[in-house]
Amino acid sequence: MNYSKLLLRVLALGSIALLSACERPSPTSVQHGYRGTGMVQVFNDRALEQRTLANELPIALPAASSEGPTAGKTYQNVQVLGNLSVAQFNRLMVSITSWVAPEQGCTYCHNPANFAADEKYTKVVARRMVQMTQHVNADWKPHVAETGVTCYTCHRGQPVPEKIWFKEEPQNLRADFIGDRAGQNIAAASVGSASLPSDPFTPYLLGSLDIRVNGTKALPGENRHSIKQAEWTYSLMTHMSLSLGVNCTYCHNTQSFSSWNNNPPQRATAWHGIRMARDLNLDYLEPLTATFPTERLGPTGDAPKVNCATCHQGAYKPLNGQSMLKDFPELAKPAEADPAKLVEDQPSAKKKG
Ligand code: HEC
Ligand code: HEC
Ligand code: HEC
Ligand code: HEC
Repeated sequence: MNYSKLLLRVLALGSIALLSACERPSPTSVQHGYRGTGMVQVFNDRALEQRTLANELPIALPAASSEGPTAGKTYQNVQVLGNLSVAQFNRLMVSITSWVAPEQGCTYCHNPANFAADEKYTKVVARRMVQMTQHVNADWKPHVAETGVTCYTCHRGQPVPEKIWFKEEPQNLRADFIGDRAGQNIAAASVGSASLPSDPFTPYLLGSLDIRVNGTKALPGENRHSIKQAEWTYSLMTHMSLSLGVNCTYCHNTQSFSSWNNNPPQRATAWHGIRMARDLNLDYLEPLTATFPTERLGPTGDAPKVNCATCHQGAYKPLNGQSMLKDFPELAKPAEADPAKLVEDQPSAKKKG
């Protein structure tokens, strides 16, 4: 064998080694649609293993007794969780600490000299978060089913969840600006480094801009949506795919992106998810803007907000579909109003009595 032949062989073997090294072990694929529709999810087993590790649940404390005086009667300033027994209340406080502020401890939200005081913004935010969690679990079952969410779903042991978003700063259109990039063309991480619009959240997960852009009639003149609008839809769809760790065919049969009939049921779940994220941002996070200190606000002064990634973090079901809620029924729905407390709070009712 002459030298150049040998070199060629070495090169060929080398490139085979290089190519096969790209995906090791080779990916697994799971077909979940009709044959020929290309509805296949491709998984890298190693990445899947890492995802399984990242989604292990923390151990839940054993259930506490519901006997004994309630937290509402025992403590001074319990506005939401007053129906719990003192034992249940303390179990929840310890659990919340491990989910949200394990390094900081109780003092992340409390002045240790006066647990009743609302002087730390973190406590005020946390109270609203308890209500938000109860609202998700009680009123968004079409999305979260019986699996539900707890603080851990988003926080994972940190005060600020890893995946949050802010409104993008508007492009600075000074005299020397290079060109109006119309909210796109910057290879943003939010859209997988595509040149798609980099903030799909403000229009769709805060506003309710139309996501459906396909024509519904044969004649093009019937559809007033532009290609530019379709780019915004694609940027939201890219965020959804990235957040869930799936490709487009997890929710769509690409024969027709519009048709609900041919699309997998996950698309309907996602439809509710879009409305849910919007609801949480509008009713819970934006109204907390004045409560957050300025260092927690975005470049335009807005509150931190949720998107699909805040809960999902790369899994098509957050925490791989395991439920923590079953061990914390107090977070499943808002407490029934305590009739005794209502009478106490209403001066007119008291007078009549
Ligand atoms: C992430 C924030 C947060 C952490 C951490 C936290 N708490 Fe709380 N705590 C709250 C909130 C919110 C309330 C009020 C609940 C309500 O209004 O229903 C509260 C109320 C209390 C009260 C009632 C005080 C009163 O008189 O009104 C006690 C006692 C308490 N917490 C103890 C603890 C202990 C002990 C720890 C640590 C193991 C702890 N908390 C950690 C948020 C927190
Ligand atoms: C759907 C996701 C989600 C859930 C569920 C959730 N949170 Fe949050 N939480 C957020 C977001 C988003 C923020 C804003 C992040 C920031 O403060 O910068 C936040 C902020 C907070 C903060 C303020 C932290 C800081 O340092 O600014 C506290 C405290 C908190 N949450 C407590 C809780 C508690 C307690 C629960 C459960 C009862 C809970 N959260 C459930 C999304 C969530
Ligand atoms: C997690 C589920 C999910 C994934 C993944 C997903 N989509 Fe969607 N898609 C939806 C839902 C839900 C709607 C309808 C939204 C609405 O009506 O509010 C939609 C709508 C669309 C539309 C508009 C259809 C119309 O009627 O005009 C297009 C186009 C689209 N998706 C493309 C994509 C592409 C491309 C991808 C991959 C990058 C993708 N989708 C990934 C759920 C998904
Ligand atoms: C508050 C947390 C939370 C947010 C925010 C959230 N999800 Fe979910 N999502 C869940 C939970 C919990 C489940 C699991 C429900 C179950 O067990 O069936 C789920 C399930 C799903 C599923 C069904 C997966 C399957 O295989 O059946 C889809 C699709 C989905 N979410 C899409 C989205 C999209 C798209 C967004 C953003 C627009 C979003 N989710 C935002 C909590 C959330």
